[in-house]
Amino acid sequence: MLQAEEIYKSYKMGATKVTVLKGVNLTVEKGEFVAIIGASGSGKSTFLHILGALDRPDKGIVRFEGRDLNDFSAGEINGFRNKLVGFVFQFYHLLDELSVLENVYLPTMVSKDVVGWLACRKWAKNRAKELLAQLGLSERANHKPYQLSGGERQRVAIGRALMNEPELLLADEPTGNLDSATGNGILDTLEKLNKAGQTIVMVTHNDMIAKRAGRIIKLVDGKITAAF
Ligand SMILES: Nc1ncnc2c1ncn2[C@@H]1O[C@H](COP(=O)(O)OP(=O)(O)O)[C@@H](O)[C@H]1O
Ligand SMILES: [Mg+2]
Repeated sequence: MLQAEEIYKSYKMGATKVTVLKGVNLTVEKGEFVAIIGASGSGKSTFLHILGALDRPDKGIVRFEGRDLNDFSAGEINGFRNKLVGFVFQFYHLLDELSVLENVYLPTMVSKDVVGWLACRKWAKNRAKELLAQLGLSERANHKPYQLSGGERQRVAIGRALMNEPELLLADEPTGNLDSATGNGILDTLEKLNKAGQTIVMVTHNDMIAKRAGRIIKLVDGKITAAF
């Protein structure tokens, strides 16, 4: 499904250039649950952002279903980010002015013009409600995110990421801000989604968390090494 070939990325910090990724390769097959581990600062988020086209590599190619992302038009890249990939972040990034339900269907709303939204609004609200039910959050649909616990907020964020039925779910330290029991609940959710066929790439600095994935790769000194 997704292939990263010889990915390089560096950042300029004043006069110094820090090379974070030095030729990273990764192939993700449909249906896999891959964890990327590595120390803080090893480039995990940088790599995940490149996989999801939130950032571009300096060198190297990312292919989605065989097609080089560089060959995607601007519209296609937007579609890729919004429909083919779902993102989950450590700090949830929910909008506090919106209800839980509205946060979940937001990705569908923003991908449509007014007419398109009016045409699919009913469907979108129903799908968002179904996702909330699946995530055990039906009772929270009309709450605001700030009224929820950390684990509940992350489940809302997972619902939002799944709204457009993405081919690929990318999760950056999804349990990083949660206590271990709550974090395990989030991992249970991810595991269940994967069993139902969802392809997942998750980044974590925690070996125990990574062990919940089907395959683990490790980033060290800008390259992939054997995990354990
Ligand atoms: N936008 C940026 N500008 C400059 N340096 C950055 C930027 N983003 C990340 N870095 C640096 O790149 C390195 C890797 O960062 P990151 O990918 O966030 O690592 P990780 O997610 O593994 O903790 C770090 O040293 C970080 O400071
Ligand atoms: Mg990170």
